[in-house]
Amino acid sequence: MSARITSFEQYQADYKRSVENPEDFWADIAENFTWKRTWDKVLDWNFTEPNIKWFLGGKLNISENCLDRHLQDKGNQTAVIWEPNNPDEKGRTLTYNELYEEVCKFSNVLKKQGVKKGDRVCIYMPMVPEAAVAMLACARIGAVHSVVFAGFSVQSISDRINDSSCEVVVTSDGLFRGTKTVELKKIVDEALVTCPCVRKVIVLQRTGTSIEMKQGRDVYWSDDMQAVSGDCAAEEMDSEDMLYILYTSGSTGKPKGVVHTTAGYMVYTWYSFLNVFQYNEGDVYWCTADIGWVTGHSYTVYAPLLAGATILMFEGIPVHPDAGRFWQVIDKHKVNIFYTAPTAIRSLMAAGLDYVKPYKLDSLRVLGTVGEPINEEAWVWYNEYIGKKKCPIVDTWWQTETGGILISPLAGITETKPSYATLPLPGVQPAIMDSSGKEMPGNDVEGNLCIKFPWPSIIRTTYGDHERCRQTYFDSYPGKYFTGDGCRRDADGYYRIIGRVDDVLKVSGHRLGTADIEDAINHTEGVVESAVVGYPHPIKGEAIYAFVIYSDTEHDFSKLKQDIIHNVNNLIGPIAKPDKIQFVKGLPKTRSGKIMRRILRKIAEGDAGNLGDTTTLIDPTVVEDIRQGAEVNQE
Ligand code: WTA
Repeated sequence: MSARITSFEQYQADYKRSVENPEDFWADIAENFTWKRTWDKVLDWNFTEPNIKWFLGGKLNISENCLDRHLQDKGNQTAVIWEPNNPDEKGRTLTYNELYEEVCKFSNVLKKQGVKKGDRVCIYMPMVPEAAVAMLACARIGAVHSVVFAGFSVQSISDRINDSSCEVVVTSDGLFRGTKTVELKKIVDEALVTCPCVRKVIVLQRTGTSIEMKQGRDVYWSDDMQAVSGDCAAEEMDSEDMLYILYTSGSTGKPKGVVHTTAGYMVYTWYSFLNVFQYNEGDVYWCTADIGWVTGHSYTVYAPLLAGATILMFEGIPVHPDAGRFWQVIDKHKVNIFYTAPTAIRSLMAAGLDYVKPYKLDSLRVLGTVGEPINEEAWVWYNEYIGKKKCPIVDTWWQTETGGILISPLAGITETKPSYATLPLPGVQPAIMDSSGKEMPGNDVEGNLCIKFPWPSIIRTTYGDHERCRQTYFDSYPGKYFTGDGCRRDADGYYRIIGRVDDVLKVSGHRLGTADIEDAINHTEGVVESAVVGYPHPIKGEAIYAFVIYSDTEHDFSKLKQDIIHNVNNLIGPIAKPDKIQFVKGLPKTRSGKIMRRILRKIAEGDAGNLGDTTTLIDPTVVEDIRQGAEVNQE
């Protein structure tokens, strides 16, 4: 069976087979890889504990499948094109041979620093090829990487490092983002004050910023790389050995470490990449996602390298030096497949066509979006002005927890509809649930989205707290994985993702938990309590509205606002900065003490005329105060 789907009829046939006979289906796909030992059993699962295992007994190494496997045919093909933040700086390319050598060397560096199979390594880096090298080197020696987005700040890093007790941190002196320089090493130094588990910090020099090197702890990437060999045999990993941890926000509590394991993740990300983007040999593929997010893991690094593609890594931002940067880079490197977030599309659309017109964009064949719902206007603009109506758009729905794309058109094969993720990939069995917890069969239904059968790259656990994984994803609808998203299946059976039904926000495509933001706000002196909700924003998709109860003694609101923003920056990162802060005397609470966010959301949306039932509140007059305050706040 060919893994590559080439027609809609084949999609239907493969989908049917994947449901009727999932084990044979996935075994056939898995045959495409290099195994050190083949599996004994394809799947073992229950969604109660949950306990999910794919390709049991199989032995392999994913870095070997990303690199070694391609060397014979593609050793001299470009693996990575690196485009720096500053367009005048010379970029770099690495062939598969070169990438292989760098990964082997850095694997030896990690070993020299005492990293062993199973150890956790934190990666806090800019978008430079070394970031991918560090990830692949961890995978090569069997260490578990935990990449932390380089926009997160001190507290977020130390929380993540401590939660999984990382012993080594890989970072850089700093990073360039547009006109800004961010001093990453300084942030790491501060974070490590509260991380006794960290023994070593490996520092790449990127910005030349002056840094302090702590003796005995800190070493330079370049020094270490000179002293090691370019050969490193890939560690034999079990199919279910941990590949990485990636922290993500949920409704409650601290971010949780989503755990992905080796074989299933490899098989599914590769299969989805090949089919969703209809990747062809020789294509130049550009996913703009930072390695700090799951899209950067699965579709900037692992899946395209598994496919032997040429990937583009971009260090900068879409609007530097101007809003034509993406389009300039596409022409410069003749990008064939381009995958980005709706937020980026909306901001470039707002900048105007003058930034698009100078570029030909004729190398493009497939366009993709990910991370949040795409509105019809942005979809149409992307289609007309970037794809010139010749490039299929794949609106790909998935999550950190799903590891890979679950619902999406297959480029040029599935008929698209603006703002619809369309149909599930083979192996994916969605269920739409009604408010009483029953599955709604048939079409033209709307409810909460679950998946009722495991696919190979499904979350295995949350690091160090399996019960949390069970409660978060497998408890709401027994026997099913609950996504946290609302979804509509229309009359044609097409899926449209409506958005989160919990307290998770998607701000500029970044996933943030309201509880985390409230926590950071509540750390501010003068703040008694806060409640954070999202409201629609024309560019960011969602923006952050904070309702803050202040203490009786506090009257300097402009200082309090500054302190709150400072704390959010410091504890989470600038991406979580509230767009609006309203000071209030009370919050709408039920008798059991729960904040009624539905009401706050309505007020934040400017729809306070229609608040629904407020009779269960302890003190309904609070609402009127907030509503009047909100009107003042909008002015
Ligand atoms: C949202 C990102 C609509 C959704 C890969 C999901 C989307 C959350 C889409 C996961 C899409 C992702 N259309 N919404 N095409 N893709 N989402 O973990 O709410 O950062 O639950 O993973 O993003 O965000 P995460």
